[in-house]
Amino acid sequence: MHRYLDKGIDFSNRDIISITDLSRDEILYLCEIAADLWEREKSEQRNALRDELKGKTLAYMFFEDSTRTRTSFNTAMRELGGSRDGFSGKEGTSLQKKESVRDTLMMYWANHADIIVMRHPNDGSVQWAADVVGIPVINGGDGKNEHPTQALLDLFSLYLGNDQSLDNIRVGFGGDLAHGRTVHSLSLGLSHFQNPQIYWATEDALGMPKDLEQLLESKGVKVFREKTVQDVLSKVDPYSYYMTRPQLERMKGITQAQIEELLKKYRITKETLRDHAAKLLHPLPVNSELAEIEISAYYTKNQGFFRQAENGVLLRKALLWSILQTESYTPFSGYLHPDLEHGNNRLVRHKTGKRKAGKFIDDIHSGISIDHVARGYARLIADKLQLSERGYSSAPIDMEPKDDKSFVKSSLDTLTERELKQIALISPEATINIIKGGKVVEKFVYLLCQNDNCITRVVTEDVPPKFYHDGTIRCRYCRKPYAFEGRKIQPKEKEAFIAGLPKVIVPIVY
Ligand code: CP
Repeated sequence: MHRYLDKGIDFSNRDIISITDLSRDEILYLCEIAADLWEREKSEQRNALRDELKGKTLAYMFFEDSTRTRTSFNTAMRELGGSRDGFSGKEGTSLQKKESVRDTLMMYWANHADIIVMRHPNDGSVQWAADVVGIPVINGGDGKNEHPTQALLDLFSLYLGNDQSLDNIRVGFGGDLAHGRTVHSLSLGLSHFQNPQIYWATEDALGMPKDLEQLLESKGVKVFREKTVQDVLSKVDPYSYYMTRPQLERMKGITQAQIEELLKKYRITKETLRDHAAKLLHPLPVNSELAEIEISAYYTKNQGFFRQAENGVLLRKALLWSILQTESYTPFSGYLHPDLEHGNNRLVRHKTGKRKAGKFIDDIHSGISIDHVARGYARLIADKLQLSERGYSSAPIDMEPKDDKSFVKSSLDTLTERELKQIALISPEATINIIKGGKVVEKFVYLLCQNDNCITRVVTEDVPPKFYHDGTIRCRYCRKPYAFEGRKIQPKEKEAFIAGLPKVIVPIVY
């Protein structure tokens, strides 16, 4: 194994959050090591590596169900001589007592874990984990966002089926391409290689997201929508067809019967595969009730998904070995990094401190006025802030000054981050005016990521909203773009906000 250390690729202390964080050479490096492990497996040398990670501990934190990802990381660690500790589901942990993700993470670091693998239902949660702890964190799936190690094992499966190369791959996609994170990560992973071609066919409601298609095409991936599975199969022979499960848990308001109807045309059966050589892949699990892959297809020569799952063990072994083979443990200090406390999301509005407060706040000498509140939501904000107990001015809180906005006045002199977040969740346009001595001394909008499932929107997790600007304003955590369209923000205010943002996700260093 140690000959791989001379290849100039350094994974030590590395977080694995998104497949896009890995270069072409790094992906090939992991595939090469995993292929080497496969050779050892075949010649029954699996136990020869039992000392490689002796003394190291993997913590697995699975807030969502999993069979393969959790088990294969466990197997990988065991076969490399390391130990494992963690949880699968909240039961039996203090998450049941409302402990936060942050505090739970700190406990695993405090218990001397060397590396964490985490799965969580919120997008961006694993970047948050990587910010909180000083040890490497691997994304085992964050919401509908990314599942980079699944993408790596999928790429490894394609690599093995393509003479150990990832160039000129043709892959077909079917099932639920809208909600499944594996297709998103795999297709982005393919963008590193030469001439990747993706063919897909499914119902409109489950189709490849338009923004992903555009992103892939901008990265040189050719994406073709076909009418039928047969059309796709004929294009991808003899490579791979990658089927996915309808992600019912991520679809709001859709019934099982509607999905059944959608799948009728796209279900894979023995008949579908007749006359085709393409390997049938699937990240698994297959939904045995919907049977997006019918049992008859399990017994064909095309079935490749169980071997694909074993490839996950090999690839995750390669990854854990690459990250942990050098001694670089960051000791636990017990303190949180100060950068975690505040976001960079306050968009400063003009007029700060320049003139006397206007007529809407003229009866507040010192306090906070929240204006540009969406009509009808002022009462909700006042109730959330418990202003009737804590105090607000005599002016009616839902007075409508001149347009469709209303405002809230209060005698509070400060708002907490949680309160600001609650206000932004109720009315994203709301502008906070801090008034002192009859003058507005601070005036800002508290911007929140617009992705409903982002971890930054969960008030009780206290994740500070942060953005970066790589040409597009993006959330640091889920990386989804932030759109100003339709917002009454002046161009100069927006420019000044962007000027204050980093251009990349700057890691938090302990
Ligand atoms: N492919 C995959 O992520 O499977 P699990 O949900 O069982 O981990």
